[in-house]
Amino acid sequence: GFVTAAGFGAWAGIAAMTAPLDTIGKVEFDRPLAIPPLAASTVEDGTRRFDLTLQTGTTDLGRGTPTPTWGVNGDLLGPTVRAQRGERVELRVENRLPETSTLHWHGMHLPAEMDGGPHQLVEPGETWTPSWTIDQPAATLWYHPHLHGSTAEHVYRGVAGMFLIDDPEEAALDLPRDYGVDDLPLIVQDKSFDDDGELDLSTSLFESAGIIGDTVLVNGTPGPYADVTTEAVRLRLLNGANARPFTFTFDDGRTFDLIATDGGLLPAPVRLTSLQLSPGERAEVVVRFSPGERVVLRSENSDTRTTFAGGRDRLDIMQFRAADQLDPAPAVPAKLAEVPRLDPSDAATERSFSLAGSTINGRPMDMSRIDEVVTVGDTEIWTVTNADGGSHNFHVHDVQFQVLDIDGREPPPWLGGWKDTVWLRHGERVRLIMRFTDYTSTEWPYMFHCHTLRHEDSGMMGQFVVVEPGETPGPLAGGSHEH
Ligand code: C2O
Ligand code: CU
Repeated sequence: GFVTAAGFGAWAGIAAMTAPLDTIGKVEFDRPLAIPPLAASTVEDGTRRFDLTLQTGTTDLGRGTPTPTWGVNGDLLGPTVRAQRGERVELRVENRLPETSTLHWHGMHLPAEMDGGPHQLVEPGETWTPSWTIDQPAATLWYHPHLHGSTAEHVYRGVAGMFLIDDPEEAALDLPRDYGVDDLPLIVQDKSFDDDGELDLSTSLFESAGIIGDTVLVNGTPGPYADVTTEAVRLRLLNGANARPFTFTFDDGRTFDLIATDGGLLPAPVRLTSLQLSPGERAEVVVRFSPGERVVLRSENSDTRTTFAGGRDRLDIMQFRAADQLDPAPAVPAKLAEVPRLDPSDAATERSFSLAGSTINGRPMDMSRIDEVVTVGDTEIWTVTNADGGSHNFHVHDVQFQVLDIDGREPPPWLGGWKDTVWLRHGERVRLIMRFTDYTSTEWPYMFHCHTLRHEDSGMMGQFVVVEPGETPGPLAGGSHEH
């Protein structure tokens, strides 16, 4: 059912500040965690090829009867695509869904025509085959549909998966990297069910922030546990939810080391006891276990400035069951990766984005309008403001950015690396610095938007093109599937 939380009213936050956190659901941890398979690929003529088929299916989500779901090469979610920096990849995306969709490579630096945004429509029965050369650091990225007006629904039904990039710099570090053993992908999503055990897609749930569910799935498994066989485990956390932020913490308050954020490794690990990820954000953390113990990963959202549903609550996510004998694992290296700082004095252009209602800078998304024209090679500073206190974050396609400051203050160490999505608390103003390189087009745009999917769908999104110096963008190419 629908969780009525602190409320959407402007002053509900006052009560929320003193009220205890809502504890959502009771979880038994009686199912082994599903691990998405690694996507099969073949290499021909120097290109690594993957087949991804969007399809319908049913999944046992513990509702007594199988739940209709959507997935990629399966019933729910999709395989983990994995490739090396420097490799050319080609993805054959076949749409066997009953509707038009798209598949976007979130966090990827690539030509706009390959981005899988709202202009690269894949009609039912059709196959779309983007191809590009991967050129960015090792990172945990993901893929999901991006059909304007339907992104929330298509992701919620289950179309999403991880896209991992490897590189020699990361491979040289002594970190857990045995996929599915001590290196676990964790796609965390909340769902709501109707009385028939089907995913609740009713209109009311898509109002305001969108769906806030009372059941958490990890990789599509409700109430999961994972067996731990090593002293250290790397978790690749993805908030794949439509609207709810998760503030990850362990039930015993243990520390963990944050080693990577959206765009790759941090310069050095950051020791934390909790970490907030809003929808679309990723993090890699390394957690240590002792023989025989059981530990629960939970979310405790406790932002006193937040008033939306899901802003203040506690949910259990999954359990870790450590074996009586654990394989030894070294501490996380003290130095991880070079993260060259972008220099604000290099910025050629500054832009401002104010997020409020269903708009950015007062304008709702228009598929035929180019909002910003960027010159390739430029460094830019983008100032983003949460102007209405809603549940907003900000995502930019094509680039990874760095956070310069938050309300004028230096960002915390966990925001010291590459990011492509950043959370904005009520009234907060965040300055981002980014550099646009390599790819230009006068007719294919990239997107910037709130990653609270209902907001994105209802218009909190804009489009930018990256062009050669002096070039004038023309009319936009590609389809426009308007609702
Ligand atoms: Cu995760 Cu524009 O998307
Ligand atoms: Cu928003």
